[in-house]
Amino acid sequence: MKILAIGDIVGKPGREAVKSLLPKLKQKHSLDLVIANGENVAGGSGITPKLAEELFNAGIDIITSGDHIWKRKEVISFLETEKRLLRPANYPQQAPGGGSIVIEKNGIKVGVINLAGRIFMEGIRCPFKVAQEEIKSIKENTKIIIVDFHAEATSEKVALGWYLDGRVSAVLGTHTHIQTADEKILPQGTAYITDLGMTGPYNSVIGRKKEEVLQRFVVQVPTRFEVADGDVHLCGVVLEIDEQSGKTISIVRVNEKVND
Ligand SMILES: [Fe+2]
Ligand SMILES: [Fe+2]
Repeated sequence: MKILAIGDIVGKPGREAVKSLLPKLKQKHSLDLVIANGENVAGGSGITPKLAEELFNAGIDIITSGDHIWKRKEVISFLETEKRLLRPANYPQQAPGGGSIVIEKNGIKVGVINLAGRIFMEGIRCPFKVAQEEIKSIKENTKIIIVDFHAEATSEKVALGWYLDGRVSAVLGTHTHIQTADEKILPQGTAYITDLGMTGPYNSVIGRKKEEVLQRFVVQVPTRFEVADGDVHLCGVVLEIDEQSGKTISIVRVNEKVND
């Protein structure tokens, strides 16, 4: 089974990148399933029902998210009805929506778990413990499990990779918007990368207009950050997974530039 996982899609440039590049990537890699982190699709922060539909229509099967999931109030009730949009599973159990799903594509069941880190982020439930609980229930349905670990600290991400080695097919980092070059298969067959990278404008500071971000750093006066434009890329990884064992055979980084 071949799965494309796309890193944080930022604003309209990110959405347009998905629309223009995904059909070609699907063909090139014979993809069975596409997962994408969509926490930044609405003006760079959050997601709306309309934009989630736009991504589903563009060929994304499951949308994961992270700390920005609650930014748009329309999403609260949408999370209850649209099970293909995940919020981190380690938010309080009473929070709207769900943090995992089992989806069937081309006759194969795949579990997806969304988790958020706790270092330099909001204090939420332990991602290690919640991962274990989620895996236990998904394992009854399928051995193929993909984890989107939306976290800031590289140490926390690497640690979760080791913790879940052999228990899931992949631990894929998101949130930093910078693709890391550490993709690997861990000894027990779990694919790992610290960050999938951003799908959006690279003529920016992690997706926002660089002039505004620089102003904040230099003058330290709060400013509104707008989504940047130019040098748009789609980033992520393609995984090849053995359907019988759930182990990953290969992980290949994707960094495709949109032709302007
Ligand atoms: Fe993000
Ligand atoms: Fe984030």
